[in-house]
Amino acid sequence: MVIRKTSAQIEKMRAAGAVLARCINEIVQSIEPDKTTTQDIDEISEELIRKYKGIGSFKNYRGYPNTVCVAVNEEVVHGIPGSRVLRTGDVVGIDLGVIIDGWHADSAVTVAVGGQTSPEAAKLLKVTKEALFKGIEQARPGNRLSDIGHAIQSYAERRGYSVVRDLVGHGIGRNLHEEPNVPNYGPPGKGVRLEEGMTLAIEPMVNIGGYEVETLQDNWTVVTKDRSLSAHFEHTVAITKSGPDILTLMPMEET
Ligand code: MF3
Ligand code: CO
Repeated sequence: MVIRKTSAQIEKMRAAGAVLARCINEIVQSIEPDKTTTQDIDEISEELIRKYKGIGSFKNYRGYPNTVCVAVNEEVVHGIPGSRVLRTGDVVGIDLGVIIDGWHADSAVTVAVGGQTSPEAAKLLKVTKEALFKGIEQARPGNRLSDIGHAIQSYAERRGYSVVRDLVGHGIGRNLHEEPNVPNYGPPGKGVRLEEGMTLAIEPMVNIGGYEVETLQDNWTVVTKDRSLSAHFEHTVAITKSGPDILTLMPMEET
C-alpha cells in the first residue's frame, strides 16, 4: 500500500528535507583532499544532524553501523565509513537520511574530491544528476510509476552509461522505506498510477561500465562488478497537483 501524505505531513517532510540539504551541503564543504577520511565524514554527519536537532535515519537500520553511507569511485552505495583517506579526483557519494519530528528525508550526492577529477568522471556525475532530474520530472499525477525509471534509463543509456538494477528508490514518510519500490529502469506506462500526496525517494545509480553490482565481504558496500566508476544522486520528492516538489533541494540549488 502506498501511503499518501496530507499537505501538513508534506510540510513536516519539507522541514526534514531542508535540514538534510543543509547537512549534505556542509559535509561536502568540509572535505579536505588527502586529509579527510570516510570516518571523518561520519563524525561530521553526526555533528551536523545534532546541530539541526534531527536524528540520523540510517544508524542501526537493518544493522547498518553508521550515520552516513560513503561510496568512493567503483563503490555504488552503502559504503561503510572507515580509515580510507579521500584523494583529489576521487568521486565520493554521500548518502544521508534524517528524521525530524517523526518524518524522514533521504538524499545523496556524488562529488569530485577537491573539485577536480578526470573528464570521464566529471561527465558521469553530470549525466547521473541530470538523469535524476529527468526522473523527477515524471513524478506527477496521472503518470505511472515506471515513467520515472524509464526516463532515467533512457537518458543515461543514450549517453553510453548503464543503470544499476539491483537497488531501487522507494516511498518515504514516517518510515525510511515505504512502498512503492522505484526502479531506475524499465518500460514506460507500467506500475501504480502516481497521485497527489505520494512521496518518493528517487535515486539513480549509474555506471560507466556494466550495470552488474556485487556486495563486498563487509555485507554492505556495493561495488560495480567490473570495478568501473559509479555515481549516485537522490532526492526526496512529493507529488503535488502541479507536479514534483523536491523536498531536499538546497535553497540556491538549480534544477
Ligand atoms: N539512501 C539509501 C536507501 O534509501 C540508504 C539506506 S542505507 C542503510 O536505501 F544503511 F540505511 F540501509
Ligand atoms: Co534512499
